[in-house]
Amino acid sequence: MPNHEIIAAARPNAEWWRTAVIYQIYPRSFADGNGDGIGDLPGVTSRLESLADLGIDAIWFSPFFKSPQKDAGYDISDYKQIDPLFGTNEDLEELLAKAKSLGIRIIVDIVPNHTSDQHAWFQAALAAAPGSAERDMYMFREGKGENGELPPNNWQSIFGGPAWSRVTTADGTPGQWYLHMFDSSQPDLNWENPKVADEFDEVLRFWLRKGVDGFRVDVAHGMVKRAGLPDATIYDENLRERSIEGMTMAEAEEAVPYWGQSGVHDAIRRFRRVLDEFDDRAFCAEASMSPLPRLAMWVRPDEYHQSFNFDYMHCAYEPAALKKIITDSIVEYGKVGASSTWVLSNHDGIRHATRLGIAPENTPRPGDGIHPTDPMPDEALGLRRARAATAFMLGLPGSSYLYQGEELGLPEAWQLEGKYRQDPTYARTNGERVGRDGCRVPLPWEADATASNGFNTTGESWLPQPANYRVFARNLQTGVPGSTLELYKRLLKERKAFGLGAGEFRWAEEYQDKNTLAYINNGVLVICNFGPDAVVLPAGELLVSTQHDVELTREIEHDQTVWIKL
Ligand code: NOJ
Ligand code: CA
Repeated sequence: MPNHEIIAAARPNAEWWRTAVIYQIYPRSFADGNGDGIGDLPGVTSRLESLADLGIDAIWFSPFFKSPQKDAGYDISDYKQIDPLFGTNEDLEELLAKAKSLGIRIIVDIVPNHTSDQHAWFQAALAAAPGSAERDMYMFREGKGENGELPPNNWQSIFGGPAWSRVTTADGTPGQWYLHMFDSSQPDLNWENPKVADEFDEVLRFWLRKGVDGFRVDVAHGMVKRAGLPDATIYDENLRERSIEGMTMAEAEEAVPYWGQSGVHDAIRRFRRVLDEFDDRAFCAEASMSPLPRLAMWVRPDEYHQSFNFDYMHCAYEPAALKKIITDSIVEYGKVGASSTWVLSNHDGIRHATRLGIAPENTPRPGDGIHPTDPMPDEALGLRRARAATAFMLGLPGSSYLYQGEELGLPEAWQLEGKYRQDPTYARTNGERVGRDGCRVPLPWEADATASNGFNTTGESWLPQPANYRVFARNLQTGVPGSTLELYKRLLKERKAFGLGAGEFRWAEEYQDKNTLAYINNGVLVICNFGPDAVVLPAGELLVSTQHDVELTREIEHDQTVWIKL
């Protein structure tokens, strides 16, 4: 008997962030206004119409604040200034005004877990004595061993190597150690210190007053560490959460004492109170945690509004696994009144047009990138699957995040030579993990307009575009039926027309066989064929197909998704 249980009820008049399609701009690679090879805010402003045309609701910007750029802007030295590399505070005001006139909301990145080592607070901490108020802004500790020569505990940096570095005192002797869960240029803040929270209240208010619509919160799962900084008891060189499988929440907190600590909720609630001083703003937490019931604790009504759904992003491209994660997401977030989010690509992973062309057993771990010795991805299959996966995602209720360039079907630039690589992961692991640069290469806008395909007018590019980027240029896809760009536009248009972001959702087992997955959202049937054999298309008006030959055959081929109005 097919099950017709409604998993999500329709949500008329849902708040904007519950249904929004949010487009991530990675500022250094979107569009370059001054031709120096690095994307900037005037570049974005000049290209905003193309995003309005795509049909997105909001933009999330990766950081553009003052930064030595050791981790591409996730190392902030002044939270209230735009880095000159990207423009000025006035450039942002211009951008905000134009976005507003186009009906696009703007979310900015806030990085509360750590600052840059060039931040005035850290410089003051270095100059001050152990035990001082200045040092108490960060996580300074004495080392272990006879002369303090060993790090205070066994924690490892996400980018490779120990999570502790030792400072040298003014007289040249080695001093205390400071914690950095990422690069040594990114010291972790001490969120037990109320002064840190006071400072961040003001940073939030500063940008809220400028008119931003919300914040994406970097490393939301890491802000508070376990009291006493005990050793991690499960040891996974990359500190990935996977190894906590089967543990209770309390066990997981103890095993991984730097992530997902329930002591963080006071800080989150305080963030929320500040945001709620302003109308209609929202938070999205980068809370990299599983399982979902644990993550849902971060999005209770007085905490963050929503969080990224990394379990969905990393889910196998396979019907049973997807069905489970989608159901669990809607149900678990729903229990705390939150809506789910969905995402397939971002600036930390392998672009899904390439990732889905790699056999599951060969898929690198997130953040590691594709190493030159890894098996080559099947890019045609990857793109076909990416289109199918995106169409399947964009029909789901909740909010979806898109990563710049995926609307072009852009593949990962996995061929990048080592000499170009800038991700700290590459240097910290001696190239063993190549890192995330392959998804961060500047976008192609107009084929052959310049060596950078219209990224700017000079042809300069902080990472070189591989030769195959030209054919993905936006101008070659605009108005071209069947292009990935036109597919995205169509999906976003129909999604809005049928109110799918806040629709009534159920699985449609009556339309499924063993290789397909189907659901109905507000009367639209979305069906994806994961198997090798074609299946017959159900009756109804065809709204979207990820392969344009469907009208002729009335069949859904392998790795294809269709939307049908029943
Ligand atoms: C998560 C960000 O998405 C990533 O790019 C960054 O390197 C780390 N947080 C550290 O800020
Ligand atoms: Ca520039």
